[in-house]
Amino acid sequence: MFGPFFKRSHGPRSRGAAAALAAALAVGAALVLAGCESPSILRAEGSAGSEIVALAIWIFAILAFVLLTVWGLLVFVIVRGRRRPESEASQTKGNLRIEIVWTAIPAVIVTVLFILTVYTTEQIALPDRGAQFTAVGRQWWWDFQFKELGFKAPNEVYVVRERPTSIDVESADVIHSFWVPQMGGKVDMIPGHVNHIRFVPLTDGTYLGECSEFCGAQHGRMRFLFVVVPPDEYSAWVERQQQPAAEPTGADAVAGKTVISSVGCGSCHAIRGTGLKGNFGPDLTHFGSRGGIAAYTLRNTPENLLRWIQDPQAVKPECNMPNVPLPRQQQKELVAYLEELE
Ligand code: CUA
Repeated sequence: MFGPFFKRSHGPRSRGAAAALAAALAVGAALVLAGCESPSILRAEGSAGSEIVALAIWIFAILAFVLLTVWGLLVFVIVRGRRRPESEASQTKGNLRIEIVWTAIPAVIVTVLFILTVYTTEQIALPDRGAQFTAVGRQWWWDFQFKELGFKAPNEVYVVRERPTSIDVESADVIHSFWVPQMGGKVDMIPGHVNHIRFVPLTDGTYLGECSEFCGAQHGRMRFLFVVVPPDEYSAWVERQQQPAAEPTGADAVAGKTVISSVGCGSCHAIRGTGLKGNFGPDLTHFGSRGGIAAYTLRNTPENLLRWIQDPQAVKPECNMPNVPLPRQQQKELVAYLEELE
């Protein structure tokens, strides 16, 4: 489903027995989704996600045991008691021993589930060592702000494999929810309040993130890429992001730079190293390096970008990107410039 968005080669990998069992459990859901590559929580690649999958398997096993036991007993009494219309079943009302047993059994089951859940919650918790970045939810895209490093990375963020990742989350408008299903856990993004999420990404790969709280018309088209890489690749990414925008080289791109400054894009968008300093829309400094347009509504290709610039409201109705009427030639130049911003 999101495979085509990757500009990187490697995707998520499964490993281990838990993953195999999880994969088996996911088969039913996968069939229903008929070929979609789902970012299943059962294919966990983060510390919190792995603990949650283990807990889910335990709870599933215990409840399956309860269900099969009850069904087994039911079948047993149906078979044993068949064709005896005249006999009355033995009466157990007021039998203290039986009352105690069938009160105690559910109490024990619930206690075991409670202890497992508290244990998992403890395992997931990581100490607060300060956030690497702030994720701001907006209608309908993600603003990843690396304040100390001096850049923003809309809708696509890199983190280091096997390093505890700590994220502050906020919202600029309504309530959203930050969720990378394969990392595990979600956290509400609430206007005027900072929440936190911490976990350790365990496996290199590009994972889909999404909004998990209904936040308006385009809630379903509010997605991002969460990219887990080794430390050296992360440093290289940070270095690239810190660079100001590249100077255009092609003739159309050079013209596009003039167009973008003259038609008012800068009231919403910023491009570091140019006069565009808008704060409302996504930072476009490295737009060309990103895999998607409009929070992964479209793949980032020149054709799709042209479609988006010509009529954003047709692609993503009710989004904050207005339709700006431009001559065909200027649209073409704009696309050429933006795609060169690697
Ligand atoms: Cu943002 Cu749903």
